[in-house]
Amino acid sequence: MDADRIKWNKRFESQDSFLGEHPSPFLAREIERIKSLVPGLNALDIACGEGRNSLFLARHGFKVTALDISDIGLAKGRNRAQTEGVNVEFLRVDLDGHIIKERYDLILNFNFLQRDLIPSEVASLNPGGLLLFDTIMASELLLQTHDPAYLLQPGELHRIFAALGGNILYSEESCSCDMPTARLLFRKKRATPFRPYPPAATP
Ligand SMILES: C[S@@+](CC[C@H](N)C(=O)[O-])C[C@H]1O[C@@H](n2cnc3c(N)ncnc32)[C@H](O)[C@@H]1O
Repeated sequence: MDADRIKWNKRFESQDSFLGEHPSPFLAREIERIKSLVPGLNALDIACGEGRNSLFLARHGFKVTALDISDIGLAKGRNRAQTEGVNVEFLRVDLDGHIIKERYDLILNFNFLQRDLIPSEVASLNPGGLLLFDTIMASELLLQTHDPAYLLQPGELHRIFAALGGNILYSEESCSCDMPTARLLFRKKRATPFRPYPPAATP
Protein backbone atom coordinates (compact mmCIF):
# COMPACT_ATOMS: atom_id res chain seq x y z
CA MET A 1 0.00 0.00 0.00
CA ASP A 2 1.39 3.40 -0.95
CA ALA A 3 0.28 4.91 2.38
CA ASP A 4 2.56 2.40 4.22
CA ARG A 5 5.49 3.27 1.95
CA ILE A 6 5.06 7.02 2.54
CA LYS A 7 4.60 6.61 6.30
CA TRP A 8 7.68 4.39 6.71
CA ASN A 9 9.83 6.44 4.34
CA LYS A 10 9.16 9.50 6.54
CA ARG A 11 10.10 7.58 9.68
CA PHE A 12 13.30 6.19 8.18
CA GLU A 13 14.26 9.63 6.83
CA SER A 14 13.76 11.24 10.23
CA GLN A 15 16.72 9.53 11.91
CA ASP A 16 20.06 8.00 10.95
CA SER A 17 18.92 4.66 12.26
CA PHE A 18 15.25 4.55 13.21
CA LEU A 19 15.31 1.02 14.64
CA GLY A 20 18.93 0.98 15.79
CA GLU A 21 21.87 -0.86 14.32
CA HIS A 22 21.85 -3.84 16.65
CA PRO A 23 19.83 -6.92 15.77
CA SER A 24 16.73 -7.80 17.73
CA PRO A 25 17.79 -9.16 21.16
CA PHE A 26 15.60 -12.24 20.53
CA LEU A 27 17.46 -13.03 17.30
CA ALA A 28 20.86 -12.36 18.89
CA ARG A 29 19.97 -14.63 21.81
CA GLU A 30 18.73 -17.48 19.59
CA ILE A 31 21.34 -17.37 16.80
CA GLU A 32 23.44 -20.31 18.01
CA ARG A 33 20.36 -22.52 18.43
CA ILE A 34 19.15 -21.40 14.99
CA LYS A 35 22.48 -22.28 13.38
CA SER A 36 22.42 -25.71 14.99
CA LEU A 37 18.90 -26.49 13.72
CA VAL A 38 18.46 -24.92 10.26
CA PRO A 39 18.48 -27.37 7.35
CA GLY A 40 20.35 -24.84 5.15
CA LEU A 41 21.40 -21.19 4.96
CA ASN A 42 18.73 -19.60 2.74
CA ALA A 43 16.99 -16.90 4.81
CA LEU A 44 14.15 -14.44 4.28
CA ASP A 45 13.61 -11.28 6.35
CA ILE A 46 9.96 -10.15 6.13
CA ALA A 47 9.46 -6.35 6.39
CA CYS A 48 13.19 -5.88 7.00
CA GLY A 49 13.10 -2.09 7.55
CA GLU A 50 16.68 -0.79 7.54
CA GLY A 51 17.98 -4.35 7.54
CA ARG A 52 19.46 -4.65 11.06
CA ASN A 53 18.42 -8.33 11.30
CA SER A 54 19.21 -9.18 7.66
CA LEU A 55 22.76 -7.87 8.07
CA PHE A 56 23.20 -9.81 11.29
CA LEU A 57 22.17 -13.05 9.53
CA ALA A 58 24.48 -12.30 6.58
CA ARG A 59 27.37 -11.84 9.03
CA HIS A 60 26.50 -15.29 10.36
CA GLY A 61 26.86 -16.86 6.91
CA PHE A 62 23.23 -16.84 5.72
CA LYS A 63 22.25 -15.99 2.15
CA VAL A 64 19.60 -13.38 2.91
CA THR A 65 16.70 -11.96 0.91
CA ALA A 66 15.13 -8.96 2.63
CA LEU A 67 11.71 -7.57 1.66
CA ASP A 68 10.16 -4.23 2.53
CA ILE A 69 7.90 -1.58 1.04
CA SER A 70 10.07 1.38 2.10
CA ASP A 71 12.65 2.37 -0.51
CA ILE A 72 14.38 4.57 2.10
CA GLY A 73 14.70 1.69 4.58
CA LEU A 74 15.99 -0.59 1.80
CA ALA A 75 18.51 2.01 0.60
CA LYS A 76 19.87 2.35 4.13
CA GLY A 77 20.16 -1.43 4.37
CA ARG A 78 22.01 -1.61 1.03
CA ASN A 79 24.45 1.12 2.12
CA ARG A 80 25.21 -0.64 5.36
CA ALA A 81 25.70 -3.97 3.58
CA GLN A 82 28.15 -2.31 1.19
CA THR A 83 30.04 -0.58 4.00
CA GLU A 84 30.31 -3.84 5.92
CA GLY A 85 31.16 -5.89 2.83
CA VAL A 86 28.30 -8.34 3.31
CA ASN A 87 25.80 -9.50 0.75
CA VAL A 88 22.01 -9.11 1.23
CA GLU A 89 19.43 -9.01 -1.53
CA PHE A 90 17.15 -6.10 -0.58
CA LEU A 91 13.92 -6.07 -2.60
CA ARG A 92 11.03 -3.60 -2.63
CA VAL A 93 7.82 -5.60 -2.19
CA ASP A 94 4.34 -4.74 -0.99
CA LEU A 95 3.60 -7.69 1.30
CA ASP A 96 -0.10 -6.98 1.20
CA GLY A 97 -1.40 -9.85 -0.96
CA HIS A 98 2.17 -11.04 -1.68
CA ILE A 99 2.82 -14.72 -2.36
CA ILE A 100 6.23 -16.05 -1.34
CA LYS A 101 7.47 -18.21 -4.22
CA GLU A 102 10.95 -19.32 -3.10
CA ARG A 103 11.81 -21.85 -0.37
CA TYR A 104 13.76 -20.84 2.74
CA ASP A 105 15.47 -22.51 5.68
CA LEU A 106 14.89 -19.57 7.99
CA ILE A 107 12.29 -16.79 7.99
CA LEU A 108 12.23 -13.74 10.26
CA ASN A 109 9.05 -11.81 10.95
CA PHE A 110 9.94 -9.00 13.34
CA ASN A 111 7.76 -6.04 14.30
CA PHE A 112 5.33 -6.60 11.48
CA LEU A 113 1.91 -8.25 11.60
CA GLN A 114 0.02 -9.41 8.56
CA ARG A 115 -1.93 -12.40 9.75
CA ASP A 116 -2.88 -13.72 6.31
CA LEU A 117 0.81 -13.92 5.34
CA ILE A 118 1.69 -16.37 8.14
CA PRO A 119 0.43 -19.60 6.45
CA SER A 120 2.33 -18.61 3.30
CA GLU A 121 5.50 -18.06 5.37
CA VAL A 122 5.18 -21.56 6.83
CA ALA A 123 4.40 -23.05 3.40
CA SER A 124 7.59 -21.52 2.00
CA LEU A 125 9.81 -23.08 4.67
CA ASN A 126 11.85 -26.12 3.72
CA PRO A 127 11.16 -29.20 5.88
CA GLY A 128 12.81 -28.63 9.26
CA GLY A 129 13.04 -24.88 8.52
CA LEU A 130 12.68 -22.27 11.25
CA LEU A 131 10.49 -19.21 11.61
CA LEU A 132 11.15 -16.55 14.24
CA PHE A 133 8.28 -14.23 15.01
CA ASP A 134 8.45 -11.24 17.35
CA THR A 135 5.91 -8.46 17.38
CA ILE A 136 3.92 -6.20 19.68
CA MET A 137 0.73 -7.04 21.52
CA ALA A 138 -2.22 -4.83 22.34
CA SER A 139 -2.06 -2.74 25.52
CA GLU A 140 -4.21 0.17 26.67
CA LEU A 141 -1.40 2.58 25.87
CA LEU A 142 -0.66 1.17 22.41
CA LEU A 143 -4.33 1.08 21.48
CA GLN A 144 -4.36 4.90 21.78
CA THR A 145 -1.84 5.24 18.93
CA HIS A 146 -1.89 1.98 16.94
CA ASP A 147 -4.42 0.34 14.66
CA PRO A 148 -5.65 -2.74 16.66
CA ALA A 149 -5.38 -4.81 13.45
CA TYR A 150 -1.58 -4.60 13.79
CA LEU A 151 -1.47 -5.71 17.43
CA LEU A 152 -1.53 -9.29 18.68
CA GLN A 153 -3.97 -10.43 21.33
CA PRO A 154 -2.71 -12.43 24.34
CA GLY A 155 -2.19 -16.07 23.38
CA GLU A 156 -2.88 -15.36 19.71
CA LEU A 157 0.58 -16.01 18.26
CA HIS A 158 0.83 -19.39 19.97
CA ARG A 159 -2.68 -20.33 18.80
CA ILE A 160 -1.91 -19.44 15.17
CA PHE A 161 1.30 -21.48 15.04
CA ALA A 162 -0.09 -24.44 16.99
CA ALA A 163 -2.37 -25.08 14.01
CA LEU A 164 0.37 -24.94 11.37
CA GLY A 165 2.07 -28.33 11.14
CA GLY A 166 5.28 -28.06 13.11
CA ASN A 167 6.73 -27.63 16.57
CA ILE A 168 6.79 -24.50 18.68
CA LEU A 169 10.28 -24.63 20.15
CA TYR A 170 9.89 -21.44 22.17
CA SER A 171 7.03 -19.12 22.96
CA GLU A 172 6.89 -16.16 25.30
CA GLU A 173 4.78 -13.09 26.01
CA SER A 174 6.23 -10.22 27.98
CA CYS A 175 3.38 -8.10 29.26
CA SER A 176 4.98 -6.09 32.04
CA CYS A 177 6.00 -3.01 30.06
CA ASP A 178 4.43 -0.31 27.83
CA MET A 179 5.36 -2.33 24.76
CA PRO A 180 4.14 -5.90 25.41
CA THR A 181 5.60 -8.39 22.97
CA ALA A 182 4.93 -11.94 21.82
CA ARG A 183 7.77 -13.99 20.40
CA LEU A 184 7.98 -17.48 19.13
CA LEU A 185 10.38 -19.92 17.45
CA PHE A 186 8.64 -22.41 15.17
CA ARG A 187 10.08 -25.40 13.33
CA LYS A 188 8.34 -26.90 10.33
CA LYS A 189 7.94 -30.68 10.35
CA ARG A 190 10.80 -32.56 8.80
CA ALA A 191 10.02 -34.87 5.88
CA THR A 192 9.00 -38.34 7.05
CA PRO A 193 11.84 -40.74 6.25
CA PHE A 194 11.06 -43.20 3.46
CA ARG A 195 10.62 -46.72 4.87
CA PRO A 196 10.48 -49.40 2.19
CA TYR A 197 7.86 -52.06 2.75
CA PRO A 198 9.70 -54.91 4.51
CA PRO A 199 10.45 -57.76 2.10
CA ALA A 200 8.72 -61.03 2.84
CA ALA A 201 10.81 -63.26 5.05
CA THR A 202 12.51 -66.07 3.08
CA PRO A 203 11.52 -69.54 4.29
C1 LIG B 1 8.53 -1.67 12.75
S1 LIG B 1 9.28 -1.84 11.17
C2 LIG B 1 10.15 -3.39 11.40
C3 LIG B 1 11.43 -3.48 10.64
C4 LIG B 1 12.28 -4.72 10.93
N1 LIG B 1 11.53 -5.95 10.83
C5 LIG B 1 12.96 -4.62 12.27
O1 LIG B 1 12.46 -5.21 13.25
O2 LIG B 1 13.99 -3.93 12.34
C6 LIG B 1 7.93 -2.31 10.13
C7 LIG B 1 8.34 -2.45 8.67
O3 LIG B 1 7.23 -2.93 7.92
C8 LIG B 1 7.31 -2.37 6.63
N2 LIG B 1 5.99 -2.44 5.98
C9 LIG B 1 4.84 -1.89 6.38
N3 LIG B 1 3.84 -2.20 5.53
C10 LIG B 1 4.39 -2.98 4.56
C11 LIG B 1 3.87 -3.63 3.40
N4 LIG B 1 2.58 -3.53 3.03
N5 LIG B 1 4.72 -4.35 2.63
C12 LIG B 1 6.04 -4.46 2.97
N6 LIG B 1 6.59 -3.86 4.05
C13 LIG B 1 5.76 -3.13 4.86
C14 LIG B 1 7.74 -0.94 6.90
O4 LIG B 1 8.29 -0.30 5.77
C15 LIG B 1 8.78 -1.14 8.03
O5 LIG B 1 10.07 -1.28 7.52
